[in-house]
Amino acid sequence: MENKKLVVGNMKMNLTASEINKYVKEIDKKNYNEQVVFCPSSLYLPYFVGKSYKCGIQNIAATDLGAYTGEISIKQVASMKIDYAIIGHSERRAYYHETDEVVRRKVELALQEKVKIILCVGETLEEREALKTYKVLKKQLTTALKGLDIANNKKIIVAYEPVWAIGTGKVPTNSEIEDTIAFIKDIVSAICGFNLKVLYGGSVNDANIAKLNEIPNVDGYLVGGASNSVEKFNKIIEVVVNQ
Ligand code: 13P
Repeated sequence: MENKKLVVGNMKMNLTASEINKYVKEIDKKNYNEQVVFCPSSLYLPYFVGKSYKCGIQNIAATDLGAYTGEISIKQVASMKIDYAIIGHSERRAYYHETDEVVRRKVELALQEKVKIILCVGETLEEREALKTYKVLKKQLTTALKGLDIANNKKIIVAYEPVWAIGTGKVPTNSEIEDTIAFIKDIVSAICGFNLKVLYGGSVNDANIAKLNEIPNVDGYLVGGASNSVEKFNKIIEVVVNQ
């Protein structure tokens, strides 16, 4: 598993109960292994637990258990045997005002549990055009990771998701992704003293996955929109897992 690529579906706030039932029935026929991770709406997570594939929550609270209406604690996530938690997704940062410091707090809480962390980082279009991509990534990674006691480096995975590529159909070139991921790996190893897996996310779909999968230093993909279609997501999984 260590060197195998991951395919993570961030299904976001999509699909109703009848649609998710159909979806789960379909994926359960596929016999996916633990390289495949489904992150549906939290409500539906129990349908995805204890299968041949893995599952993850899209967000966790920045606080421990307590009187926080509508929130879900990482302790609850762990107690439900959910394998992964996405932390710091750009939609959380943009729409729910999650700062780098809040993201750091969530990482600290998640490190106390067995749940693996998918830490999202990425620059906006404005930052990219101002040539600030590396500066932004360095700040996001440093704030989230510096000084943490990460005894088990397999617990954290970084997902590089340029904000301008999410849901837009725009994707950086393979060499841009390769360079940025190399930069992220360098920063992470300077901060933590070891390497972490780095995924790419942003408009990954069944039509572009074969080309994206040629990038040598990518450890997997975080797929949004396309993961809500069993057919499209299956094509992506076939390219990455059966390569
Ligand atoms: P899209 O694949 O829809 O661009 O979304 C990417 C994403 O945000 C995954 O977390």
